[in-house]
Amino acid sequence: MIPRIYIPADSGALALGAEKVAKAIEKELKERGVEAKIVRNGSRGAYFLEPMVEVATAEGRVAYGPVKPSDVKSLFDSGFLKGGPHKRWLGAPDKIPFLAKQTRLTFARCGVIDPLSLDSYKSHGGLSGLQNAVAMAPADIVKQVTESGLRGRGGAGFPTGIKWKTVLDTKSDQKYIVCNADEGDSATFADRMIMEGDPFVLIEGMAIAGIATGATKGFVYIRSEYPHAVATMNKAVAIARKAGVLGANVLGSPNAFDMEIRVGAGAYVCGEETSLLNSLEGKRGVVRAKPPLPAIQGLFGKPTVINNVISLASVPIIMDKGAAYYKDFGMGRSRGTIPIQIAGNVKHGGLFETAFGLTLGEIVDEIGGGTASGRPVKAVQVGGPLGAYFPRTLFDTPFDYEAFAAKDGLIGHAGITVFDDTADMMKQARFAMEFCAIESCGKCTPCRIGSTRGMEVLDKVAAGIEAEKNFALVTDLCNTMKFGSLCALGGFTPYPVMSSITHFPEDFKPAPARVAAE
Ligand SMILES: Cc1cc2nc3c(=O)[nH]c(=O)nc-3n(C[C@H](O)[C@H](O)[C@H](O)COP(=O)(O)O)c2cc1C
Ligand code: SF4
Repeated sequence: MIPRIYIPADSGALALGAEKVAKAIEKELKERGVEAKIVRNGSRGAYFLEPMVEVATAEGRVAYGPVKPSDVKSLFDSGFLKGGPHKRWLGAPDKIPFLAKQTRLTFARCGVIDPLSLDSYKSHGGLSGLQNAVAMAPADIVKQVTESGLRGRGGAGFPTGIKWKTVLDTKSDQKYIVCNADEGDSATFADRMIMEGDPFVLIEGMAIAGIATGATKGFVYIRSEYPHAVATMNKAVAIARKAGVLGANVLGSPNAFDMEIRVGAGAYVCGEETSLLNSLEGKRGVVRAKPPLPAIQGLFGKPTVINNVISLASVPIIMDKGAAYYKDFGMGRSRGTIPIQIAGNVKHGGLFETAFGLTLGEIVDEIGGGTASGRPVKAVQVGGPLGAYFPRTLFDTPFDYEAFAAKDGLIGHAGITVFDDTADMMKQARFAMEFCAIESCGKCTPCRIGSTRGMEVLDKVAAGIEAEKNFALVTDLCNTMKFGSLCALGGFTPYPVMSSITHFPEDFKPAPARVAAE
């Protein structure tokens, strides 16, 4: 049997040097006259071990990482094609603690299969969900998704089945499925990783959504900063169309569904669903007032399902194994699994898919391994740039939508950014206002004007100018933004600001007091 070598072509792995490693392995094979098949897979998401190269042996796959081009000669010398020992030897990938502790439902194939091999996808359980769906009535598919408890993974956590039901129940000559792959939150990369590592699961999820709601056309809106995801998705759509997974008769059924990939021009606010729709229609990416809901009047005024990549990519497993199977994972009203993306100043950065319910402390200290700098963890921002900063005293908060909301925080798209004790929370609060000012679409006053005033007022607090008065003004301003903004960009910017003030008041002492205290 010709040996198989798996080298990730995922953007994260490429950024860490995977292409150079691939070239060095190809060269070495040639020079030694050894025949081997190189598969460019996605990443398994343990980025602290990338580039992670795997070889298929008679005893299963053996991983090595992080591999540098300079390791390649010695890897061959140690017989790595047969899983031989080496300083980069990691053993069976599914026994590496970071991977072994995960529950992979949505990401089960990511990093395992050749992303563009439909045969490989099928042999690892792919298309079973769609196969079941084409034999079902639309209302029954919607019921199954509703019963699974799946909630939108884009940030708002809205129940996916309820959204689909609204579209199903709205009569129209044309309906659409729009996949939100704008993924603008800091520390997030789950959407990118799955589009590059297992694109057919998203295509399958979108086709199921189409059949469930009566939509025959889908669009994936991907941020322009994701060229590899765009290329992989375009190739996968062409393969799926040729194989009859997409087209006039999905898997030979009477259901039609086809889709296109569209590239955004790069604005955080274009991740907000109505702004995204405007952008898709070729207009400026500005937020639309709701109602009407996109489910009733969305893309080109037609009923539209807008879902995040992970929401849609989680549907195939639900349709394959059933609502009860998926619902069995998780806690409270947060059912199933969630791909937590651990980033920032952290030792073991990467994607960790697990059932809801781990505490923040377990995620940061045990799975993330604490900070990369080795200094104490000071704060963790959960849920992207609009998420609250959590201090260590809140590390017992379980990863659950309601538990985070009860602590004035949010899960968002499940990205977490770790900061050590050198972080200045006043600067972080100011940065939140600055981010909002830069990214605001400008449609409503609390966000457009409030964010700039917020920066000015925080600068005055920092400089010790009428500190008490200006400090009170920050709270007042945050309330105006929170309750008066049209969308969550202005409405949630107060979360990082107010959580910094609440949990780290010592960082908000005016400059002279801070100097005196130090
Ligand atoms: C400023 C802003 C940015 C957003 N960015 C994204 C994004 O990048 N990806 C995403 O899926 N949802 C994003 N959302 C949430 C979407 O508006 C919407 O709730 C989501 O796409 C719905 O899909 P879901 O129900 O599957 O989560 C954003 C919301 C706001 C207010
Ligand atoms: S809150 Fe900001 S981004 Fe949202 S509509 Fe208002 S101005 Fe636009």
